[in-house]
Amino acid sequence: MPPLHEIAHLAHVELRTPVFEESLEFFTRFLGLTENGSAGDSVFLRAFDDYENTTIKLTAHSTSGVGRTNLRAAGPEALQRLVKEIEATGRGVGWQDGDPGYGPTYVFTDPDGHELGVYYESEWYEPPAELRPSLKNQAQAYPARGVSVRRLDHINYLGVDVEQNRDYLRDVLGAMVTEQIVLDDGSTAGSWTTFTSKGYDAVYTRDRTGTPGRLHHIAFAVDTRSDILRAADIALDQGVFIETGPHKHAIQQTVFLYVYEPGGNRIELCNAGARLVLAPDWQPVDWTEAERAKGQAWGLKTIESFHTHGTPPVDRAP
Ligand SMILES: [Fe+2]
Repeated sequence: MPPLHEIAHLAHVELRTPVFEESLEFFTRFLGLTENGSAGDSVFLRAFDDYENTTIKLTAHSTSGVGRTNLRAAGPEALQRLVKEIEATGRGVGWQDGDPGYGPTYVFTDPDGHELGVYYESEWYEPPAELRPSLKNQAQAYPARGVSVRRLDHINYLGVDVEQNRDYLRDVLGAMVTEQIVLDDGSTAGSWTTFTSKGYDAVYTRDRTGTPGRLHHIAFAVDTRSDILRAADIALDQGVFIETGPHKHAIQQTVFLYVYEPGGNRIELCNAGARLVLAPDWQPVDWTEAERAKGQAWGLKTIESFHTHGTPPVDRAP
């Protein structure tokens, strides 16, 4: 089993949209991401505090959903060890050129079929003159546009078999399981895992339709709880659909707002300063069905669409 922290962090994610121009406007005008090049049917977008070139690769597609999730290895040796572990599982696809600014990327899938990639070499972002920050320890000037999210925070996949996917992340990629939903029948309906000291980087929740490879949401971090309230006001004025929130999750205690981008993908805004897991011997916190039935931290019942809406829509899923 690879030790913890062989994966340095969750890096850029490819999102697909059937309404490219509308989605691009959402990501730039509402979230405040900055365009940073294009290739083929994709535009590369970045959050201002990302030291790498790309945060989201937005791709025009026949439907919505998630493309490749990229993970940065902790170093060249860690990358080689990870590739060996992945190949032994039979889920390797092979080496490919990385996206612009990224080195060779080893492509593979999780048990559910979500495409993943791991790489080490990465060019650090060099802002053009008009986007240069005044402080040298910041990647890019604060955009002051829309929500102006700081960085990608986490990805929440839907999975047909949560346990199988959780075990793969833990045993093959070295993730730590921090919190879970364990149903009365003993099965795991949700699992929160981390590669870092953040409470979670990658989550699997059960796909009730039994369809593999789908996305529940991706989340972007803002600095404070009040930034979440401000994001809700901006969503209201910009005609962005609010699904639920602002409120506070019981699991991981994140303050949240959920919206849909025009392509249908669910996007969460969350506060960056939620909880850290520093203990190397952390034991997963298991939540029961009865505890989950109480709803979110301050009593908001979990909205039904949280259990039914994923991307791509089931009638369009592979
Ligand atoms: Fe989330």
